Amino acid sequence: MTPLAELDLPYLPMEEASFAKDPAAHFAAARRRHSWLARWKFGPIVTLYEAVRDLFRMEHKMRTPYDKLVEVMGAQGTPWGRFQERHILSQSGPAHARLREILAPAFSPRRASEHRPLMREVIARLLDEWAPRGAFDFEEFASFFPITVMCNLIGAPPEAIPSLKSSLEALGLSVSMDPQILGALERATQVLDEFVHRLIEERARGKRLREAEDLLDVLLQAKADGGLSQRELADLLIFLFVAGFDTSKNVLTLIMYEIVGRPQIYARCAQDLSFCRKVVDETMRFHSTTTTNRLLTEDIAYRGVLMPAGTNLWFPWSIIGRDPLAADDADDFQPDRVRKNPHLGFALGAHMCLGQFIARAQLEEGLHLIARRITNPRSPGPLGWRPFPGVWGIRGLPIEFTPAPLAGECPG
Ligand code: HEM
Repeated sequence: MTPLAELDLPYLPMEEASFAKDPAAHFAAARRRHSWLARWKFGPIVTLYEAVRDLFRMEHKMRTPYDKLVEVMGAQGTPWGRFQERHILSQSGPAHARLREILAPAFSPRRASEHRPLMREVIARLLDEWAPRGAFDFEEFASFFPITVMCNLIGAPPEAIPSLKSSLEALGLSVSMDPQILGALERATQVLDEFVHRLIEERARGKRLREAEDLLDVLLQAKADGGLSQRELADLLIFLFVAGFDTSKNVLTLIMYEIVGRPQIYARCAQDLSFCRKVVDETMRFHSTTTTNRLLTEDIAYRGVLMPAGTNLWFPWSIIGRDPLAADDADDFQPDRVRKNPHLGFALGAHMCLGQFIARAQLEEGLHLIARRITNPRSPGPLGWRPFPGVWGIRGLPIEFTPAPLAGECPG
């Protein structure tokens, strides 16, 4: 058994802009030097799909390390620091199970499907507004879609969106481990905290968007039943806004980036909603958005390596599907492929994305209507890339296209 510290592991400069531009090439080079591990300045990174799955079977020997993130950022005791240490992803054991049980019924596949008409309505309205322009930044356009859906699901007024977007975007960079952005993280936490508290107060005074039960009702009932404190309620609301915003917006932008130069695939997305599901799955295998870490609470011996308790181990959910042992022709984008393994874009284990069915439904519905209304798209490519650790994605994707009306099919 070789101690981790004695391994000469390839270095992945995950914090650098050049890395964010083409992480798959860096991972491929690292795999040539070591079959399943690499390292960066904050710990070792698992580069092999099978190893990620095996290690998550030992999840009971790990925990999420947001308190350590707060330490690295020098943010102990600040509003952002407190939020990081308390949110659902930071919790484990019974405390985590309690929060997950409260939310789970509202996030089932059936409930997600029931929201499809709402998702279609939201994207149709956005397309009515944006498509006649014939050209726009797709990332900016996409940024209005998941947050509008989320506001409706929670029961928050969509008028608040412009004031929330930049704060949500800032908090999406929380795991980038860059202390220089701490000021922006603190301001963003304050804006969102004030927003959700106002929302709760207004609901207490009887203000609501519609009669039907929404997520805020579910959480307020849990609080009334004694299952949730006021602070936990506010943190859950903030977390849901953050978790569903940047991730979904970035995946939708990555989808457009992949299919804009593939007219046949693009045309099929316009014709066939079920094909959109394959494109979403293939994009999330090819490159999704999230890379997170776990702190080992016990030693783990795996594949001849002894990783001691205290190791901060990184899992690149966003790119692990490009492991050539996990998929045939892993570097080819093939939505029709026969899948050897599921993609891991929503992670694994106890914290596996709770919003995945909502995310899938809105990506499929969004893609289908976008491809119908935005025809013959062209793009010079991304203007830039967001940092790889945490929530990765494209920063600005200009497109030009021929707008197409969709008579009689969309509400709005
Ligand atoms: C394509 C979009 C999305 C992606 C790629 C994504 C990805 C992820 C990943 C990788 C995790 C686990 C992180 C870890 O284990 O360290 C996660 C957790 C979570 N996500 Fe998502 N997510 C997406 C959309 C959403 C949406 C729309 C919502 C809410 C409506 C949501 C709510 C959550 C929640 C609540 C958790 C924490 C679960 C827990 O701690 O038990 N996500 N997501």
